[in-house]
Amino acid sequence: MTSKEQKWDAQHYDGKMGFVAKLGAGVLELLDARPEERVLDLGCGTGALTNELASRGAQVEGIDLSEEMIEAAKANYPHIPFAVEDAHSYRADAPFDAVFSNAALHWMRQPERVIEAVAANLRPGGRFAAEFGGADNVSAIVSAIGGVLEERFGIDADSRNPWYYPTIGEYASLLERQGFRVLSAEHFDRPTPLPEGDRGLRNWLDTFAGIFFAGLTESEREEAYREIEERARPKLYRDGCWYGDYRRLRILAVLKTPRARSHSARSEV
Ligand code: BEZ
Repeated sequence: MTSKEQKWDAQHYDGKMGFVAKLGAGVLELLDARPEERVLDLGCGTGALTNELASRGAQVEGIDLSEEMIEAAKANYPHIPFAVEDAHSYRADAPFDAVFSNAALHWMRQPERVIEAVAANLRPGGRFAAEFGGADNVSAIVSAIGGVLEERFGIDADSRNPWYYPTIGEYASLLERQGFRVLSAEHFDRPTPLPEGDRGLRNWLDTFAGIFFAGLTESEREEAYREIEERARPKLYRDGCWYGDYRRLRILAVLKTPRARSHSARSEV
């Protein structure tokens, strides 16, 4: 949940987009944090899943680039350490047993640096469990935004797109290059109901997609939203509800020990 250009409203996020944390249940299970393990939550947002990890007995810390999110996380869960940090460059004082991340990595546009930081913050044998948008995530929404901005306002939406949605192959290769062994990787569809009936898609645009509409007046934005809804409706609206065409990447990887790394380097020669 981190991007410098993206403005976050923590209250709006928790109130209208609370489903984001609820959908993190699968990756929590995948991590299977054990009591007393030291876990870093990367892109922790307002801290709901960090707290879930803490309630399972983990010694957890949360970081996020958004000051608003971290302020809310600290207020929500004062017993957990949270800090404003950039996951691209973060180095903790002591290594973690595991790094966890839900719905955050697609905001981080330099994945090599993020993975390098994850590796630097893990002990050898430590786990990295993450879920985020994979290739073609929200493609019907992105295509409707792109069409409307281009045709009505002459804006090149691609140049404003803040998201990184890799395939399994791309992301697994990056992990392997930085010394991880990928234990599992899934890329699956998860059509996601957007709360508040007819307002569902515009709430989502307000919360997550503001950067695309920078520079438009209020009435231009309203016009853009209406046209985006029109274009996206056949694919994303049914029975009074909007659905985000989410397509997730869920991975579990383990940081190889230096010995295992040198063996695999030799076997590649
Ligand atoms: C996602 O969770 O897939 C997502 C959330 C906000 C913006 C883009 C993607």
